[in-house]
Amino acid sequence: MCGIVGYIGKADAASVLISGLKRLEYRGYDSAGLAVIDGDDIVVSKTPGKVAALRDRTRAEWSADRLSRPGIGIAHTRWATHGPPTEANAHPHLDQSGDIALVHNGIIENYRPLRARLEAKGHVFRSDTDTEVLAHLIGDCCKGDLFQAVCDALHQVEGTFGIAVMSAREPGKVITARRGSPILIGVGDGETLIASDASAILSHTQRVIYLDDNDIAVVTADSVDVRDLHNVPVTREIAELEFDGSAAEKGGFEHFMLKEIHEQPECLANATRGRLDHDLGSSVLAGMGTSPRELAELERVVMVGCGTSLHAALVGEYAFEDIADIHAEVHQAAEFRYRNPILGSRDFVVAISQSGETADTLAAVREARQKGAFVMSLCNVVGSTIARETGRGVYLHAGPEISVASTKAFTCQVAVLLMMALKLGRGRRYSREDGGRLAREIARIPELAAEVVRQSEHIAAIAAGYLKDEHAFFIGRGPMYPVALEGALKLKEISYIHAEGYHAAELKHGPIALLTQGTPVIAVACDIPGKDKTLGNVEECRARGARILGIITEGDDEAAEYMDESITVPRAHPLVATIPAVVALQLFAYHVARLRGCEIDQPRNLAKSVTVE
Ligand code: AGP
Repeated sequence: MCGIVGYIGKADAASVLISGLKRLEYRGYDSAGLAVIDGDDIVVSKTPGKVAALRDRTRAEWSADRLSRPGIGIAHTRWATHGPPTEANAHPHLDQSGDIALVHNGIIENYRPLRARLEAKGHVFRSDTDTEVLAHLIGDCCKGDLFQAVCDALHQVEGTFGIAVMSAREPGKVITARRGSPILIGVGDGETLIASDASAILSHTQRVIYLDDNDIAVVTADSVDVRDLHNVPVTREIAELEFDGSAAEKGGFEHFMLKEIHEQPECLANATRGRLDHDLGSSVLAGMGTSPRELAELERVVMVGCGTSLHAALVGEYAFEDIADIHAEVHQAAEFRYRNPILGSRDFVVAISQSGETADTLAAVREARQKGAFVMSLCNVVGSTIARETGRGVYLHAGPEISVASTKAFTCQVAVLLMMALKLGRGRRYSREDGGRLAREIARIPELAAEVVRQSEHIAAIAAGYLKDEHAFFIGRGPMYPVALEGALKLKEISYIHAEGYHAAELKHGPIALLTQGTPVIAVACDIPGKDKTLGNVEECRARGARILGIITEGDDEAAEYMDESITVPRAHPLVATIPAVVALQLFAYHVARLRGCEIDQPRNLAKSVTVE
């Protein structure tokens, strides 16, 4: 997620802002920038890349006097959502006059019509971002009172924001506001800070005010005045931060992986926000850039990916065939690129990659384009190579995934694939009623994930019983088969236990020979079609002494009878149920690895993005 830092006080603003941004580096980003008020002017410096690059740039370009000037500034690290990571797209952004600077976290859903309206009034934009539109809107609303201008502008905004705004015309104050993206205010001694994350201010103060949604505050070096967007004062207590800087870097979580598992409800809300059309019973995926006719003429969906992304594609295979009534297939990207695939213009090739940099998936994209297929990507990193080379696709909006073991990317990939299948299906035989039901089920996904995340301690207690095992089997059927594969991958890559995922029916074709007394079998037996057959396979395993951990639907007492112990997940549409089921397996793998004392975020031999063959 992006990072925000603001400062008003006695210290030299530029160095406070830079050190604050460095404490946000763990959140991942692709560009950074800052703005200070120097005399009657706002001065901005921003650059793609690391905070160190920004520091070096300001040192090279700004005078010692400006660098050491006390007072006021705002700064930002950007995780691109609209437009690639370039200097022009980095924050802060200025309004048309150049007197107002803004930094922003979140997504302005209606930025396109707002931009068109402002352009019609003569505004000239320098970036591709939704944030610059908000800066210009504030400037357009400003009649000499920055606070009122920000209120008026935010009343026109749809979407989420966490912002800090300052004006050369009103030095000594920063306006900050939030809706759906965290903002906290650090109350120091003769200085005040604004941040999107506590880690950026801990070295100055542990006294903080957390803004609630639709709060807006006028902040000076020695005052914080919080109001609602109708200018009515609200009371927000000063809280005392309990954790130190190092813990705050992970938002208080022990590992990035656990933080990212817990972030999934928010990320899934971001991945689906504004993308479901409940009236038409369809989805809105503007990035696909396709007309209904183009989609209707497609004859096959071919998904390519690696690792966790490959497993997401396998869930997508069920979704496209079941919902869109179109032939679908999945290929491991490295195999695909060398197999001389038979492809043509009626083939819809979807490259799935969190990083957007995986070499084999990139090569598969190039092979598919070479053969004239209709190619698009499903990536998390805006402006990544695969996203740029396909030129069209859907971004996950999951925020940076730091832990090597992929969690939130997988669930967001599955959610987006379900929306893609819904979009294709509604251009074929999928009815408006069926589409509406599925859209409502997809809209439940953030809460379904949250229900399982809340079981983390229960799952940790179960995980404690598996620390000495050196082998484990994960089994499932239908869309729960790729969930079993993903669960096995999570466990093996962070706990180093040898874990294999199998189709539940496949065990008796050989692997069952490996079962001995007490061998753990994790059965993904949610209450969806095929469950009874899976329970039969569980019986076959029990008969050979296996110890069974079931992932079952809450209230399914019949399934519980077959298991030695269970983790229950909420009932949902068979394809949607894959997400709460996999969250349970993510937490299981995490707690086993944690209790075994494993490294977790940076497992041995692994890289977050495999940019080599
Ligand atoms: C999964 O936990 C691993 N990190 C790995 O399998 C990963 O999913 C794979 O390397 C693909 O990465 P991508 O999604 O960035 O292309």
